[in-house]
Amino acid sequence: MEKKRIGVLISGGGTNLQALIDACENGEINGEIAVVLSNKEDAFGLERARRAGIRAEYVKWLGMAPEEYDEKLAAILKDEGVQLVVLAGWLRVLTRHFIEHFKNRIINIHPSLIPSFCGKGYYGEKVHQAVLKAGVKVTGATIHMVDEGTDTGPILFQEAVNVLSEDTVETLQKRVLEVEHRLLVKAVADFCERQEI
Ligand code: GRF
Repeated sequence: MEKKRIGVLISGGGTNLQALIDACENGEINGEIAVVLSNKEDAFGLERARRAGIRAEYVKWLGMAPEEYDEKLAAILKDEGVQLVVLAGWLRVLTRHFIEHFKNRIINIHPSLIPSFCGKGYYGEKVHQAVLKAGVKVTGATIHMVDEGTDTGPILFQEAVNVLSEDTVETLQKRVLEVEHRLLVKAVADFCERQEI
C-alpha cells in the first residue's frame, strides 16, 4: 500500500510532531509528512521539520478573516496532496469550511481525558493547571476526530495517567506528553493502514 501523505499543523515546540517524524522514518507509520504549517513564526516545530527535510511554513495571519486564513492553509495542504491532517498542538479553531473539506480526515490530540478539562480555554499548561486545581487523581491523553466543536469529535484513543501528590504542572505535563506521543503515533499508523483513504 502506498504511503499516506500527512499534513501537520502546529503552534509550538512540536514534540508530538517529532514523534510522528521519527515513526515515519522508522516505518512504524506507513506515511510521510508532506508539510508542516504553523500559525506562529517562532514555533520550534518548524525547525524540527526543516531538519528532517520536510516543507515547513509559517502561515501569517495578517488580520484576515478566519475563512480566508483557513483557505490559505487548505490550499497548501491540497497542493501537497495531503490525505490526513494532524493537529499537533495547534492553537486555533478551524472554520466549518476547512473541517468540511477534510471531513473525517482531521485528528487532534488533547492532554486530558475528554470530556474532562477540555473545550474553550483548556489548552497547553492551562489543562494541567486545572487538573491539579481540581485535585483529580487521574488525567490522561485523548486522540479524537475533529468536528466543528472544540474537543468534541469522536474519540479514537485514550490513555490514563495517574496524578501524583507531588506533581507540578511541569512534571504532570511531561508524563502526559509521553503518553500523547505514543497514542498519536498509534492513531496515525492506524489511519495510514486504512485502504479506503
Ligand atoms: C500537547 O500537550 C498537545 O496535546 C496540546 O499542546 C501540546 C503541544 O505539545 N494540544 P508539542 O508542541 O507537541 O510539544
